[in-house]
Amino acid sequence: MSRIITMTSGKGGVGKSSVSVNLAMALAHHQYKVCLIDGDFGLKNLDVMMGLENRVVYDLNDVIQGRCDIHQVLVKDKRENSLYLLPACKSLSFQNLDATVMASLIKYLETEFDFILVDSPAGIEQGFTYATSIADEAIIVVNLDLATLRDNDRVVGLLMKKNIHNISMIINRVNVEDIEEGRSLTINDAKEILALPLLGIVYDDHEMIESNNRGRPIYLQKGQLLHQCFENISMRILGHDRALTKYKKRSLLSRIFSG
Ligand SMILES: Nc1ncnc2c1ncn2[C@@H]1O[C@H](COP(=O)(O)OP(=O)(O)OP(=O)(O)O)[C@@H](O)[C@H]1O
Ligand SMILES: [Mg+2]
Repeated sequence: MSRIITMTSGKGGVGKSSVSVNLAMALAHHQYKVCLIDGDFGLKNLDVMMGLENRVVYDLNDVIQGRCDIHQVLVKDKRENSLYLLPACKSLSFQNLDATVMASLIKYLETEFDFILVDSPAGIEQGFTYATSIADEAIIVVNLDLATLRDNDRVVGLLMKKNIHNISMIINRVNVEDIEEGRSLTINDAKEILALPLLGIVYDDHEMIESNNRGRPIYLQKGQLLHQCFENISMRILGHDRALTKYKKRSLLSRIFSG
């Protein structure tokens, strides 16, 4: 039985796609068969972040038009053998999604994969509806600012309405200095506002931006702090107990995580 997880957020630009790609890499690295669905139909970007843009031959519209089979749309990752990307397509709008094709697509994916991660577009419009209609778990990606967190409280309500009760959160772009200087909310603030299980934190790191631009996900760079962040998050998804990834300046930790 595969786990279908939608990666979502009320606000755009919080790092859903970056987190989705690296989490998919981490799970695949642990020998799970993973399908990452680029649910952002307007802007295709996961293929670029993964360095797979030259390998994309078909998209969902080709399946719907009968030009190829479902398995031909999936793009195999270059580094992790058990990771596949289902690319987005610009030519398709949500209104044109054929329910029968979608149902057979999901059925096929469920028989083939251990994990299906859906990177949903920002907000709670049609993309959100699509992503949540096929998922049974949700991971909300947030940043440590009040507007983002308040927005996501609404997303939690909507997910529950859609019968998705297995909801957890990942806090992305945690900046220790900003927390210390009082410019950012704290991890505990986020826990209090959203009252969701914390799956993990990902630090704010310019290496993430460079990796995304180079099409070489940061998870692949073993020495990096963010590699460890995603490693720990993947372990928690798999049910293992892991402490939050520690920032280099250990002395700050007690203050950040206290209370
Ligand atoms: N932990 C991080 N540290 C530094 N930069 C990050 C981090 N996570 C994401 N970014 C950067 O933030 C920007 C937005 O990231 P991303 O595209 O993953 O967000 P998104 O939530 O998917 O956006 P959208 O809502 O437009 O789909 C990118 O430039 C990305 O490289
Ligand atoms: Mg995105």
